[in-house]
Amino acid sequence: MGLRLKFNLVLTGVFLAGFAIAGWTSYELLQRNAREEILRHARMMMEMALSIRGYTSTQVRPHLQAQLVQTFLPQSVPAYAATEMMGDLRKKYTDYGYKEATLNPTNPRNRATDWETDIVTSFRNNSANREIIGERDTPTGRSLFVARPIQIADSGCLVCHSTPAEAPKSMLALYGEANGFGWKMNEIIGAQVVSVPTSLPIESANRAFVTFMTSLAVVFVLVFIALNVMLSRMIVRPIQSMARAADAVSIGNFEIAEFESGTKDEIGVLGASFNRMRRSLQKAMRMLEG
Ligand code: HEC
Repeated sequence: MGLRLKFNLVLTGVFLAGFAIAGWTSYELLQRNAREEILRHARMMMEMALSIRGYTSTQVRPHLQAQLVQTFLPQSVPAYAATEMMGDLRKKYTDYGYKEATLNPTNPRNRATDWETDIVTSFRNNSANREIIGERDTPTGRSLFVARPIQIADSGCLVCHSTPAEAPKSMLALYGEANGFGWKMNEIIGAQVVSVPTSLPIESANRAFVTFMTSLAVVFVLVFIALNVMLSRMIVRPIQSMARAADAVSIGNFEIAEFESGTKDEIGVLGASFNRMRRSLQKAMRMLEG
């Protein structure tokens, strides 16, 4: 096995091992970052929804008390305001979603679907659980959701959500008496569910991964070429010509030209030593012949 092949085998082995380790760690890191970014988005949307809710109940509702007796305005309901505003956001960010998924909702559009019902049920079964994070496939791609329980913590809620008899007449005129009643104090009646598409951050993580691995491979190819050229020019070829000269000298052929390396590295020093040895040999032979 030639020097070049040995070097190349070791080099390729080292590179493959490095490529695998770098690939695995960078892939894991990029995916984790992408997932954290998605989660940060989702949590921010959740906080936005809570802010809209808070704004509606503290700054809008108090001004509409008198009006609400005459005509009920859904715009004064925090759940309605949050759902509407987040719905508006969807015009621009189509795959994002916000829902106040409720088992027995006042407005049918808030009714929990199958998978949302599972989430609400698990919150109801374990009230210590304050957040559920998960992923699911949707028609527009994979989506991450963050869900938090909606609990009746304020007896003021029961004015409109306990029995139709207690609810404002204007509200009954708009929503009827069939839904959104029978809620109890401290009961978990639903969940706020924020959905964020995962495709974009995951795609850009994958792109970054491919770019990184390609540049790593390019660097290896360049190192490989440079090392091979250097090995051939500085070591393999001089040694081959030195071997040829040694062969010639060994059969008494001193016609062959002196070894020329022109460098001061180890090979150059070896060449000079070889030339000296050859001259001494030639002198000794002449003395013998003479
Ligand atoms: C003045 C009456 C009123 C009060 C008080 C009220 N709600 Fe509502 N709530 C409504 C109406 C009406 C809707 C339906 C809004 C819509 O059309 O989306 C609603 C909707 C909701 C929804 C969305 C699911 C559904 O039923 O459609 C949740 C969750 C909710 N309310 C929770 C609460 C909580 C928690 C409180 C107390 C902090 C509260 N509500 C206080 C009238 C009220």
